[in-house]
Amino acid sequence: MFVCICARVRECEVRAAIRGGARTEACVGEACGAGTGCGSCHDRIAELIDAEAARPLAVNLAA
Ligand code: FES
Repeated sequence: MFVCICARVRECEVRAAIRGGARTEACVGEACGAGTGCGSCHDRIAELIDAEAARPLAVNLAA
C-alpha cells in the first residue's frame, strides 16, 4: 500500500527508513522521499514513526 502517492513510496519502504534511523518526517523524506510533495501523507508518516518507536528493538543473539 502506498503511503505517499506523490513520491510513490510504499508503507514497507517508510518503515524501513524509520528502522534505519529516520525518526522525524523530514528524515523519512530524506531517506525515501515520502512526504516531500503535497504533504498530505505527513500524518500517516508520523503514525508510522510512532508505531515503529513502540516496537521492541531487535536483538542479535548470534553476535
Ligand atoms: S502524498 Fe506524500 S507528499 Fe503528497
